[in-house]
Parts: sequence; C-alpha cells; structure tokens
Amino acid sequence: MSHKSKILVTGGCGYIGAHTIVDLIENGYDVISVDNLSRATTQLLAGIADITSVQVKNYAIDLCIAKDIATLFAQHPDISGIIHFAAYKSVPESVAQPLSYYHNNLASLINLLQMVQQYEVPYFVFSSSCSVYGNTQQLPVTEDTPLPRAESPYGNTKQIGEEIIRDFSHTHSGSRHALLRYFNPVGAHPTALIGEIQPIPQNLVPYITQTAIGKRPQLTVFGNDYDTRDGICLRDYIHVCDIAHAHTLALRYLAQSTADNRCEVFNLGSGTGNTVLEAIAAFERVAQMPLPYVIGARREGDAAAVYADNQKARALLGWQPRYDLDDMMRTAWIWEQRNTQ
Ligand code: WQD
Repeated sequence: MSHKSKILVTGGCGYIGAHTIVDLIENGYDVISVDNLSRATTQLLAGIADITSVQVKNYAIDLCIAKDIATLFAQHPDISGIIHFAAYKSVPESVAQPLSYYHNNLASLINLLQMVQQYEVPYFVFSSSCSVYGNTQQLPVTEDTPLPRAESPYGNTKQIGEEIIRDFSHTHSGSRHALLRYFNPVGAHPTALIGEIQPIPQNLVPYITQTAIGKRPQLTVFGNDYDTRDGICLRDYIHVCDIAHAHTLALRYLAQSTADNRCEVFNLGSGTGNTVLEAIAAFERVAQMPLPYVIGARREGDAAAVYADNQKARALLGWQPRYDLDDMMRTAWIWEQRNTQ
C-alpha cells in the first residue's frame, strides 16, 4: 500500500490556500483543511474537487480555540506537515481593529505550534508577507533586508509570527519551518474553477476585473508623482499558482534539509516590478478592451516601489515562476467572467 503524507492546510477555503491544495494533491499529498469560514465560503472547495476529483474535508473550527485543535490532532495524529494560511489580512481593518488582528493571527499560530510540539509534526510552512519589509528603501528586497517597524498591525502580526516561529525553532529540534514572504499574489487557476473572491475589492487586480465587467465604474490609480519610471507605484505581482507550487517545494525542501538552521525565510516574488499602469496595459492587451481609469490621490501608507530578490527560493527550493504578467491578467479575467455569471 502506498503511503501518502497527510498535510494540514489552514485557511484552505481561501485564495492562496485553495490553489496550494490543488498543487499538493497533484503532487501526491493527502490534504485536510481547517477553515472557520469567517472570511471564506466552501465555494473554492467545490472548485478544488472539480479540478482534482478529490473532495477535501474541511474542519470549520477556530484555531484560536486550543481544545478544538487538540481534538482535530487527536483524530489525525499522523499529520506530517502544516501549511498555515489562516489569518486576517486587511491592512486598513487591522488599523481599525488591532486587538482582533493580534488575537486572531497570533493565538492561532501559538495553538498550532503547540500541536507541532506535542505531535512531533516535522514540517511547518508559514504564510508571511512582503508587508514585513514596510516602506523599505532597499530594492530589490532580499531576505536579509533589515525589517523596519511594521506599517500596520496586520504587517506586525506577520513580523511577530515569524519571530515566534524562529524562537520556537531554536528550542524545538523536532520540526523544520519555512517562512514564505509573498509579494502581490494575483491571477487564478488556468481552469478558472478557483480564483480570488473579493465582494468588495481590496486589491488592485480584483478592482481591475470588477471594473472591466461593469461592477465598478472606473479604477482609480493611487498617485502619479512617485519616484518610479512612470511616476506610478510599482509592485511585484506573482501568479497565485506559482505561489502555490512554492509550498509543495518548501515541504520537499524541509524534508531534505539537514541544515543547522531549522527556520528558513524565502521571498516569493517574480523578481521584477510593474507599475499600476503596466498592469492595466497588460490587462487591456489580454482582455482586448480599454479599462476606464482615472489618476487619483496617493493612498496613505503606500510605498513607492517594492519588488523581490527571489534568488534564494530559486536556489534552495528549485522554484521558478512560470506565469508572466499577461498570464496573471488573463487568468484573473477569465475567472472574473466565470465567477460573475
Ligand atoms: C497594489 C498597487 C496601489 C488599488 C497589499 C498589502 C500587503 C499584501 C498584498 C498581504 C498599489 C495600487 C490599488 C486601486 C491602485 N497583503 N492600487 N488602485 O498595497 O501592494 O499590498 O496586498 O500580505 O500587505 O498591503 O496591494 O493590491 O492594494 O495595491 O492604484 O484601486 O495598486 O497603490 O501600488 P499592496 P494592492
């Protein structure tokens, strides 16, 4: 009988979690999901089943309730890896409700690490964010770029989460940990059976596609007086399927690693920056339609430019982004059209 590794994905009903589950299944893993559905529905689980023919079981428990996680682990003592996506992720909401963000994002992490310790779970992958770099001036950002004070309580939960895991790794020799700093994940699965769901768009690409389909009258480009090649903010957009595959590679890396360091951090970005106008141009090219937009004021808290040095992920994980900016826009647009029907 073949033995499959069982991976617990938290936040498996969310955008990156769902794409990662597909990649894990396609690479031979057994997956269970924990998602309390506070910020998601089971829609993407149905899409995962359509793509993979596997019905992933979701446990709708709150990771902040220690006894509920303990019950889950008692049922699944053979979990061999955890990929921890579940978290609140809105920057402005975190400014308005800091305690809710600190409690939700950190209590859940601590409870999970207690299970890692108790059940000797060997591999732990954490969803971190380029937001840990704040308004850094050093470009491209490498994993060694010093972290300034976080710009928001949300970003701070990612900085503190990384520190908690690093400290834990120093004392606990039974597990290895990867901290994955995502840049700007966009796009959708090429089947258009799963993608990003933002009823009120919080990020650029959902705003673009919802404008194109007529749900929003126009896009506002936030500021045109930045010190970049066209005066517009520049970010590192990376396809969600490339991000997803990096998690599979991270599990393999952790399984093979014999390094003294039991906690490694990786930037997951394309390595190149694009401005909002370049993103719009890519959208217009692949959708073959003009996008209505106006130039507006700067958005508070926006850095002028952020993009990744991704050499470490390439070298140690063997990761290579496969989708370019046009692919990101094309898949996001096909998903929007399908999801809006
Ligand atoms: C992208 C670019 C905007 C909307 C955020 C979080 C970060 C991380 C990723 C989780 C910026 C511009 C946007 C619009 C615009 N999340 N824009 N008009 O701010 O780079 O990063 O998501 O970890 O922590 O802060 O992403 O998609 O909001 O913006 O001009 O209507 O698009 O100014 O340059 P951001 P975003």
